[in-house]
Amino acid sequence: MPETSALRIPPDGRIVVLTGAGISAESGVPTFRGADGLWEGHRVEDVATPEAFARQPELVQRFYNERRRKLLAGDIQPNAAHAALAELDANWPGEFLLVTQNIDDLHERAGSRRLLHMHGELLKARCSDCGAVHRWQDDLTAEAVCSGCQAGGRLRPHVVWFGEVPIGLEESFAALASADLFLAIGTSGNVYPAAGFVDVVRQAGRGRAIEMNLEATVAAGWFDEQRIGPATQTVPALVAELLAEI
Ligand code: OAD
Repeated sequence: MPETSALRIPPDGRIVVLTGAGISAESGVPTFRGADGLWEGHRVEDVATPEAFARQPELVQRFYNERRRKLLAGDIQPNAAHAALAELDANWPGEFLLVTQNIDDLHERAGSRRLLHMHGELLKARCSDCGAVHRWQDDLTAEAVCSGCQAGGRLRPHVVWFGEVPIGLEESFAALASADLFLAIGTSGNVYPAAGFVDVVRQAGRGRAIEMNLEATVAAGWFDEQRIGPATQTVPALVAELLAEI
């Protein structure tokens, strides 16, 4: 039987991490449900739906074009929490999966490898006709042409909208069911299915669940432990604890 750490995680154990907008907040990416949660007077839920895209494609494209430009402008960089998770990914001897709800690429830029973008990626576009996914750094417009099938005006952001099925759920649920440690970092616990991940861990009855946030969330009661504070402080501290034990 391998030795366990103070967190009681065996060194060959499985870690699953869920991140939300809060981990990127200190990098300058606004969260969804904070004081500045409205965009041009719209709730995110009103621009991030297939219905909104069908009704007002220019408005929805503008919403994502703005975010893509900001992400590429240079002043948004990975922070110490992204870096710590990349270090954990690189050094943890057991299974590891980072599932992010974020569509920014800050986890990749920090060096994370075992990573799943369950809500898609801002720097990719998808063709509604042929399904091809392309790396995309420019504004998306009605004139944009898919280099796969040559269709014009059929490209949309490669993001998951409300009412659409998140990416990689089967892999996430399988990992959660056999997780020894589950961390939920910077997520408000409002949006399912991610908000239900902690329940999968509890149902499986083996993993320890830790919520890491500026405050206890609506889901706090489902976790074994809370680590309250900015992610740039709490995440490096917890990663150091984990790596010190292996
Ligand atoms: P939210 O904006 O709902 O929640 C962000 C959470 O991060 C809040 O609970 C904050 O308290 C916390 N937070 C803020 N700053 C933090 C910091 N420096 N350190 C630690 N925690 C901090 O964002 P998400 O939970 O990610 O979906 O939202 C989930 C989904 O709702 C998003 O992926 C998006 C959105 O609508 C889609 O677009 C499909």
